[in-house]
Amino acid sequence: MASSLGSDQEPQLGKPVQELAAINGREPPPRYIIRDGDHNETIDGNPSLSSSIPTVDLQLLSSPSTPANEKEAEMEKLGSALRSWGFFQAIGHGIPSSLLDELRNVAKGFFDLPTEEKLKYTGIDGSIDSYGTDSVVSDDQVLNWSDRLYLLVRPENQRNFRYWPDNPVRFREILHEYSMKTSLVAQATIKAMARVLGLEENYFVNQLGDQYRIYARFNYYPPCSKPDLVYGIRPHTDGGLITIVLQDPEVEGLQVLKDGQWIKVPIVPYALLINVADQTEIMSNGIFKSSMHRVLTNPDRERISLAMFYLLEIVKEIEPADALIDEVRPRLFRKVKVKDYEKEFNRSYSQGKRAINWAKV
Ligand code: OGA
Ligand code: NI
Repeated sequence: MASSLGSDQEPQLGKPVQELAAINGREPPPRYIIRDGDHNETIDGNPSLSSSIPTVDLQLLSSPSTPANEKEAEMEKLGSALRSWGFFQAIGHGIPSSLLDELRNVAKGFFDLPTEEKLKYTGIDGSIDSYGTDSVVSDDQVLNWSDRLYLLVRPENQRNFRYWPDNPVRFREILHEYSMKTSLVAQATIKAMARVLGLEENYFVNQLGDQYRIYARFNYYPPCSKPDLVYGIRPHTDGGLITIVLQDPEVEGLQVLKDGQWIKVPIVPYALLINVADQTEIMSNGIFKSSMHRVLTNPDRERISLAMFYLLEIVKEIEPADALIDEVRPRLFRKVKVKDYEKEFNRSYSQGKRAINWAKV
């Protein structure tokens, strides 16, 4: 979205950050510099905390051959991860490492294309599907040091291939395959989430609806000469039901807010990061936390990640599950339309504010 500051005044606005970084010797222009000092003072002073970020084995959770006591213990781990962290590292997810490698290769292949090639996928006529930078909605917004390729991958009949790169040649095929496989992971996860809450196993599956949506967002973070003063992505929560993130295999950057401290998310090879997003927090009546997270940049190395956002069918309404409301835990959120929530989310996101407050009773 265009800002009232036209590109005449600030030539860097709207330009891919990747190109800006290349031209400027990785030096961020003023619009990218955060205003409240640097972001180091809030960082986890206790490195052992990051190793306590929970890892959950989805195979143990879903397999009929898992002994009952082991399944129980894994469920407990999942529950505690979702209540106190809002996310976990998923292993045993069944997606072959070779597919994850291929996906990373095509993602890198796309971002390695010349700028003019990538700009062919710039969104036109307000298309959400697009290659570009984070949208600029206000003149005082501090910009994210990242580019992204944003694509609707589900419902399949709504895919807009105009925005799906045909170079690398296997890009479309690999993204399709990955989206099929991650959907199974998502299903298994939300079924387990319902069980942990004592709800009927298909509670979230039904809420999601047949026409549920998946957006894929490929994030590209160029190296930055002032990583302490810049955000790759400013602090935010995600807006949908859950998000599945494939991190860069070598370069860290993601951090999660836990008890007032930013904790680094370590790289667990071939694990998928799964986080609770706002709509799960609402439906679970606040029992599961939509995790606040941010991404920092690296002075020397680029970083690429892929987030798959699971969003309810647009015609749905959401509210806390009846069974999770009682005298000790009164209703925390109103009933809201998914459509309205998403509108509010987009408004709040660019300002670094939380949309969920809008849905509170
Ligand atoms: C996001 C996000 C994390 C990452 O795209 O919403 O939080 O590691 N990405 O890039
Ligand atoms: Ni996010």
